Amino acid sequence: MTYIQEKQINDNPAFNKEDWASAYKNVEKELTNEPLNISKGGNIGELNGTLFRNGPGILERGGQWVHHPFDGDGMITAIRFENGKPSLTNKFVQTKGFLEEKKINKFIYRGVFGTQKSGGILNNALDLKFKNIANTHVIKLGNEVLALWEAAGPHALDPNNLDTIGLTTLGGVLKSNEAFSAHPKSDFNSNMSSELLVTFGIQTGPKSTIRLMEFSNAGENAGELIIDRKDTFNGFAFLHDFAITTNWAIFLQNAIDFNPLPFVMGQKGAAQCLKSNPNKKAKFFIIPRESGVFKGQPPIIIDAPDGFVFHHVNAYEKDSKIILDSIFYDDFPSVGPDENFRDIDFDNYPEGNLKRSIIDLKGGTSKLETLSSQCCEFATVNPKLLGLKASYSWMACTDKKIGNAPLQAIKKINLITKEEISWSAAPSGFVSEPIMVPSQSSNKEDEGYLFILLWNGSRRGSDLVILDAKDLKELAIYELPISIPHGLHGSWVNN
Ligand SMILES: [Fe+2]
Repeated sequence: MTYIQEKQINDNPAFNKEDWASAYKNVEKELTNEPLNISKGGNIGELNGTLFRNGPGILERGGQWVHHPFDGDGMITAIRFENGKPSLTNKFVQTKGFLEEKKINKFIYRGVFGTQKSGGILNNALDLKFKNIANTHVIKLGNEVLALWEAAGPHALDPNNLDTIGLTTLGGVLKSNEAFSAHPKSDFNSNMSSELLVTFGIQTGPKSTIRLMEFSNAGENAGELIIDRKDTFNGFAFLHDFAITTNWAIFLQNAIDFNPLPFVMGQKGAAQCLKSNPNKKAKFFIIPRESGVFKGQPPIIIDAPDGFVFHHVNAYEKDSKIILDSIFYDDFPSVGPDENFRDIDFDNYPEGNLKRSIIDLKGGTSKLETLSSQCCEFATVNPKLLGLKASYSWMACTDKKIGNAPLQAIKKINLITKEEISWSAAPSGFVSEPIMVPSQSSNKEDEGYLFILLWNGSRRGSDLVILDAKDLKELAIYELPISIPHGLHGSWVNN
């Protein structure tokens, strides 16, 4: 495959949908400490740490496909670097549902995104059980690696071999199987610990309660919950992600309704029952952090801009305002009951755009600016600057400038000047979330490495690509010995 590095992305790209869809297949093997072969560039000596990635690893059982890849069982990949030399370990998360279904090679649980059990509507109606699929994110908290799925509790894994230890309550912090977000934030700028892990769990219904938790994640008390607060809001809340600043936790409640009837009647998955309500106003729930100067105060609720958001990029405080960057969609993207997710028409789906909300805490208003109108997702900043003003963001984006398509390129944008540079794997390469690892030898914001798991459609296999975060030059490409479907989130942990 020829990778193209260029300042301007091609406006007339082509991608082969079969190349893209070929990533969707079951992961066939589990490996332990398998050395990786480099196919381009050279090992990067200063890398000492582990790249953890999570994503669906089982998409079909006994001839039945999941209805949406988000319903696939979680498979963790860990690529460990020692003085720049990488080796790969990968394991399925041995959840209760994974083990039950593996035994008979058949889906016996309904999926949130529309996967049905066999036997039609009658066999699915009134079955409201769900499977904790542990497929969304993987992080290290204290001495444990956690596989996360937002609607239920985390699974603890052995950090060395990824063996599943089991569902954890984090030492009694969580009730049995209590919801624990798949989007924790690492805060390196708090005065309470050199690293805090800030996260939330949501209990939703006619009223929704957000539990905001802050754990120490460094030193002797790493893994210990040090801050815990709960706030209740009116109405059903669907919150996948949030953002933090030094003093605030910011949630965007999309203007959507949840009508559970088709789910209860066995016609749709629960997430397929979410629908935008144009008569409703989206809201920001802005909760004071108990580690900040507004501790003990009640949350602030402010009308939010129209649109749907899964992921935020970063937020920071400026005078009495919060500046929040997010990926906005015009509407909630969902794969309908009669559609095949491997053959979707990208033109019919809303695309993500990088936008900035300026939230005026004193005036109680917000306004929205577009930072880039190219379709993108999975945007990040230098992790050391999370919660503070960052000058740069890196993200996965389409190869073309306009319209929806698979994510094939990586873009770096200067958030102040809006200057952009890009690296593209089109036509046959497909990218995932870029993970930015700051350089150990420089404090400059954009010096470091970008790790990207890439689906190489030419050889129908996965590559690990490492780019220079500053100029997006290719530093190293490794051909992986396993094929990994298009995945979700991951993190880097220094040795
Ligand atoms: Fe996410």
